Order: sequence, then structure tokens, then C-alpha cells
Amino acid sequence: MSKNYYITTPIYYPSAKPHMGHAYSSIIADFFARLKRIQGFKVYFLTGTDEHGQKIQRAAEQKKMDPLLFCDEISKTFRDLSQTLNLSNNDFIRTTETRHAKSVQNLWNILEKKGEIYLSKYSGWYSVSDEAFYSESEIEDVDGVKKSISSGSNVEWVEEESYFFRLSKWQDKLIDFYTKNPNFILPETRKNEVISFVKSGLKDLSVSRKSFNWGIKVPSNKEHVIYVWLDALTNYLSALNYPNESDNLYKSFWPADLHLIGKDILRFHAIYWPAFLLAADIRPPKRVFGHGWILSGDEKMSKSKGNILDPLEIIDNYGLDPLRYYLIKEVSFGNDGNISQEKLELCINSDLANNYGNLCQRVLAFCEKNANFEVPDKDNFTNDDNFVLDKYCESYNDLIEYSNNQDVNSYINFIVEQLFTANKYFNDQEPWKKKKDKFRMNTIIYVALELIRKVSIMLYPIIPTSSLKVLDVFSINEDKINFETVKENNYLKNGLKLNKLDILFKKIEKND
Ligand code: ME8
Ligand code: MG
Repeated sequence: MSKNYYITTPIYYPSAKPHMGHAYSSIIADFFARLKRIQGFKVYFLTGTDEHGQKIQRAAEQKKMDPLLFCDEISKTFRDLSQTLNLSNNDFIRTTETRHAKSVQNLWNILEKKGEIYLSKYSGWYSVSDEAFYSESEIEDVDGVKKSISSGSNVEWVEEESYFFRLSKWQDKLIDFYTKNPNFILPETRKNEVISFVKSGLKDLSVSRKSFNWGIKVPSNKEHVIYVWLDALTNYLSALNYPNESDNLYKSFWPADLHLIGKDILRFHAIYWPAFLLAADIRPPKRVFGHGWILSGDEKMSKSKGNILDPLEIIDNYGLDPLRYYLIKEVSFGNDGNISQEKLELCINSDLANNYGNLCQRVLAFCEKNANFEVPDKDNFTNDDNFVLDKYCESYNDLIEYSNNQDVNSYINFIVEQLFTANKYFNDQEPWKKKKDKFRMNTIIYVALELIRKVSIMLYPIIPTSSLKVLDVFSINEDKINFETVKENNYLKNGLKLNKLDILFKKIEKND
């Protein structure tokens, strides 16, 4: 099995500043990137901005700005957000970069040479907001305004000369591909939606536009710009220096292991993208995971709806790790989820400050008072000790499965359970009553320290900054984190001096 892992987020439209939905996808992708790294994988993690097309051109026009200058400004806010979110991305791609244009034009040329693209005329509905073509059956009339049923965005009638990709020809081959790669689309419900859409019949896809010019030119016909989705999807290849197939990045990381996206853009990733690639004789990615939406009330949080929550404000008020933990734990992964300040505060107080923070503080304070603030000598483990320690070993294969199947919910549930178990263990064992039986008291401290070490490793992908603070107590730094050691019950060496731990999470006081 290859120990390389390529994971991507969508590249976001810099039509307006990033919001919580973008932060959500990026944080989840970072979770997987970090999780795979500590499992020994060489990970390449890509994010970036999608800067061409009519949506961006119009947004720039509204501001009376040159589209590139407009993109420079907003793309930077996305890049800055990656830092603020502590993303461990290896690259940040912009589709206005030369490396990307070369890659897109190359893919276009291959498709054209293979006869997969032909010139004709498009007449139909188009949503600039979604940058998507919709058929008559996909739109509805709302008070005299035509809208896309799925996204609710306005559509307009377009009639112009256009190049088409022979998507219809790929219908059976796509079905065949989904059958042979049953985990290509996850979760399962999304897969079924895609398959039934493909089975209902695919029409050829318009892949160029002529009525505006903000895009990558069709190499053989400069009057056309390449459809922004064909342009954007190719970012996953251009970041690996495609078309240079002998490039190390390309050789190591293509096909991508995981395109993590929101369900709004599933059709582009699960139908168009593999069809383009199959047509160009390039291997399709291994998996597309379409997660749910962060809702605001009952509606999808989105720039166009104006109901956005600013991640920067939340981070300013509560800190980054609480936000990361909250989004990963409280939004059931794969489904839509409502977020609220109230639930966030509850999560900080109960899970982070109480269950995790307090566990660490109590055990370390006790160790400082009674065992010189070092890993004590231990006696044989009792059944109670083995019971709590062995949980990790017994569940190890499941935990790896969760990582491989993007089962975020089971992964975090395991952690929550272990935090509860560790606290209960320390309470029930009452080491403060064992001061006369030093061996037993020391063994309890030892077990509690091992539990803290194990759970902190598991928390690293979720709350890296806080986890690293705790792991530093044991002088385990970031490059030394090894997921496999959660199986070990005797990892900590006796006599190891511990390092001090500052308060991890401040409780939110309710003053009402
Ligand atoms: O679609 N809840 O960019 P985009 C959860 N440029 N995730 C959300 C969300 C929400 N309310 N709102 C946005 C584009 N997202 C294209 C992508 S990829 C080759 C091109 C996240 O700025 C989610 O991942 O509209 C969604 O798919 C993505 O942002 C859309 O971002
Ligand atoms: Mg969108």
C-alpha cells in the first residue's frame, strides 16, 4: 500500500470574504491531513482559490476593480484564513497562476485532439452564482423569477456559440467506474443521488463561454474562455505540476486520495471530473466525499444569502481549537448541522475545559505533589488499569477504519468516551487515599499519564495547538507523534521529568 496521501479542499471563489462554511471544509481536511501524517503517511494537502468566470468578473465590476486585483485582495483573505485556522496545507493554489493555465490548456488540447470536444451552440439556463448550466426540469419559477431548485440561485437565459464535451458518451463508463469503485463517492446517500442522476441520462456539457473574457482562453480559439469548472477542477492536477508527468509530486500524489467537498458541488466532482479525466486517459481520484452544510437557521449559510457567521470573530472570542473541536464534534459529519454560540460555549465548558483540561490539570497537579513531577515507577497493572488502557489497543483497527472511511463521528465519539473513562478511572481509584501504598498510588498516576498521552495523540488532528501543549508535558513534539503508540501501555519511561502545563481552556462564565 502506498504511504502517500493527497487530500484537497475545494478551491473557494474569492467573490467575497471567507465564511464559516469555508472554514468548516478546510478544518475537516486539515483533520484528515494531520491524522494521516501521524499514521506515517507522506501527505500533500492542497487548498486555494477559484478565480475565473462570470461570477468573479461581475463581483469585480461591481467594485469597479480589475478582476485580477480584485482576486489578489480577496484571495489573500482566504490564504490568511488558512493560517488563522492553523491548516497544515502544503500549497495554496490560485487559478490565475501561470502554472495552472498551462495545465488547463494542456488538458483541453488532449480532449480536443481525442475528439471529445466539438463546437456548437448552447441555449439554456445558467446560474452565475453556481457557475452551472441547468435544464428546464432543474429550475422553478419563484414570483416570476427563475431559480435553480437545488441551490435557489437565480438563473439567466444564455444563447451563444460554445464548445461541448461529449459527456453523454461517458454515461455507461461512469456507471461502470462507480460499480468498480464502490467507495468513490461517499457518503452512501450522495453516491445514490449521483448514480441516479447519471442513469437518468447525461447530455453533452458546454465547456466554453464567449460572452465575457475573464478566464483561460481556449488554445485553438481565443474568442472563447474555458468553462470555469473545467478550469477549476484541474487545479488538483496543476498543483502537482501536471502535465509534467515525470514530476515527483505528480508521480507521488496522483491520483488524489480524497477530494473533500460540500455536497453542493458533488455533480462537478463526481460526474464531470472523472469523465474529463477518463476521456483524457488520466486516472480519476480515489474518493470524493461530499459533506453536509453548516446551516444558519434552516438555510445553508452562504455569501449570496447574506446569513454568514464570521469565523474570525468566533476565533477572536473563543480561540481556534474550541472552534475546530466544535465543528468536528457537533456537526454530525456527512449531514447538515446548525451551529450556535450557545452550543459552542457548552462544548468548551463540558468537553474541553472539564473533560480534557481538568483531567490533565488534576493528574499533573497530583503527580507534582506526590511523585516529583516525573513519570513514577509502576507496579503490575490491575484489571482496572488494563481495562482502561486496553481500550485503545482493542479499538485500534476500528480507529484506522474510521480514518480510512472518513468516519469522523465514530473517531470523535471514541475520544469523548475515553475522556469520560479516564476521568472516572482517576476518581474511582482515589489515588489520594493510597498515599500509604506508594506502589499502587504511583501505578494509578502512571496509568492516568498514559491515558492523557493516548488521548492527546488522538486529539492532535482536531485541536493541534492544545494537544501539542499537553504532549510537551512528556517532551513529545510534533514530529515524534506516532499514532501507533496509542496501542502501547508502557510507552512512558519512569523517571521522565514532566514539563509544566498552562491552563488549556478557560471556562466561559455565564453572567446572566
Ligand atoms: O463552489 N456549509 O466555491 P465556493 C458547509 N469554487 N460548507 C460550505 C458552506 C456551508 N454553508 N458554504 C460553503 C465553489 N462551503 C467552487 C469550488 S472546486 C474545484 C471549485 C464549502 O466558494 C463547501 O466545501 O462556493 C462547498 O463545497 C465550498 O465551500 C464551496 O465554496
Ligand atoms: Mg458556492
